[in-house]
Amino acid sequence: MSHVPCHYNVPVRSRVAHLPGRSVRYLEAGSGIPVVLLHAFPLHAEQWLPQLAKVPAGLRIVAPDLRGFAGSEPFAGLTSREVSMDTYAADVLELMAHLEMPRAVIGGLSMGGYVALAIARAQPARVSKLLLADTRATADTAEGQAGRDRMLALLASEGPSGVAATMVPRLLGETTRREQPDLSDAVTRLVMENTSEGLSAAVRAMKTRADSTALLPSIACPVLIVCGDEDVITPVGDSEMMHRTIRGAELVVLPRAGHLSNLEQPMAFNDALYRFAAS
Ligand code: MLT
Repeated sequence: MSHVPCHYNVPVRSRVAHLPGRSVRYLEAGSGIPVVLLHAFPLHAEQWLPQLAKVPAGLRIVAPDLRGFAGSEPFAGLTSREVSMDTYAADVLELMAHLEMPRAVIGGLSMGGYVALAIARAQPARVSKLLLADTRATADTAEGQAGRDRMLALLASEGPSGVAATMVPRLLGETTRREQPDLSDAVTRLVMENTSEGLSAAVRAMKTRADSTALLPSIACPVLIVCGDEDVITPVGDSEMMHRTIRGAELVVLPRAGHLSNLEQPMAFNDALYRFAAS
């Protein structure tokens, strides 16, 4: 757990939950109000180290590797082609039950946000609050689905390194690429700790995910939407659409951050997350 640059204040524990038929690796820090943070594609739980390492008193953050990513077992009971956003959502709910978390603040960045929305649709009572970071409610367009097919071909021919070369420059905002060059290397290393099979399953799951737009007006819990103002993958307009549609939602746009806003501007991200979760 050393790729992502962050100054540790709080011990971050790496644990394995042995669930029926498979195991899930998760990171955990702090104690108190439960907060579950779900990572983006093509990263893994260590994306959340800057949030875990600074967790204030009164919050307990858990960040799992989604099924097939990094330290979580792949597809026990399923083939990789059967994995969907609902699979990931059910996995997270199962982990929460294992950790005796009947409800939690559920947060997700990008693909993690797609999973958070799937949880809010399946089990709204288990969501005390919802954080949607650098994500969108809409399904893939036809053009987006064609991009998924290109990504699957790239994974088949070059594996995670091909994905890293293509995606990392777009994941980080232009300010970060200029001013924090080490972050590109750190993110690349996270990508490389995944397998082609795990990443391909996630690409197919994103390609076929449901449109969550109709869900938004029915969300009754507090919602915080965060987006980097230099995000080119899920631009601020996607967050503004969710903000207009979810009653009472709060929108925080982080300056000088791209798609990976929690890594690029961790202090500003943490201020927003911790205040929202603890209030
Ligand atoms: C992510 O950051 O999780 C992905 O880029 C989201 C997507 O490709 O739709």
